[in-house]
Amino acid sequence: MKAQEIRLGPLPKECFFLDRAYFPFPWTELQWSQQLKNESTYLFYEINAEGIVHSFILGDCALESRVFWIHKVLTHPESRSKGLASGLVELIELSLDVKDFYLEVAESNSLAIGFYEKLGFQAYDISKSFYSNGEAAFKMRRCGAQRA
Ligand SMILES: CC(C)(COP(=O)(O)OP(=O)(O)OC[C@H]1O[C@@H](n2cnc3c(N)ncnc32)[C@H](O)[C@@H]1OP(=O)(O)O)[C@@H](O)C(=O)NCCC(=O)NCCS
Repeated sequence: MKAQEIRLGPLPKECFFLDRAYFPFPWTELQWSQQLKNESTYLFYEINAEGIVHSFILGDCALESRVFWIHKVLTHPESRSKGLASGLVELIELSLDVKDFYLEVAESNSLAIGFYEKLGFQAYDISKSFYSNGEAAFKMRRCGAQRA
């Protein structure tokens, strides 16, 4: 596996298909293309020797304030618990010199909440009716660079 980062440009189609197949609240193609037009948007992904994407993180970075907002984290079900998504968080921190991470996660998504807590994120607020189905979201953050 090697990690790659793109800022703008064409969306690797695997990210779109992974999102549609496995993300709790997938985006439409239009939502993806609008998001990727933002100059502050970054897409980090793990790709294997065959060119297959197994894991990605999409977010926005404010380089001046060293803040990264995570919009989506997804690993293919067959590639989970191998450290892929954790590795991408670490890669974002190192390559963009990020200090603080912020995100929203559905309150029922205990797997993802466990993943974030393991990486040192903490819930600091809750947004009621955050998702289209009326579900609430925890607001989570990790402040301060983790690397030594
Ligand atoms: C959350 C998610 C991105 C984690 O991806 P991943 O590549 O498996 O993450 P890692 O391998 O780096 O896992 C780190 C930790 O997450 C938790 N975790 C990941 N997969 C897990 C699983 N299947 N069962 C239990 N815990 C799991 C564990 O704490 C794990 O640490 P461990 O392997 O030492 O036990 C992945 O489960 C996923 O794609 N979920 C569906 C999409 C989603 O809900 N995204 C978040 C929405 S905001």
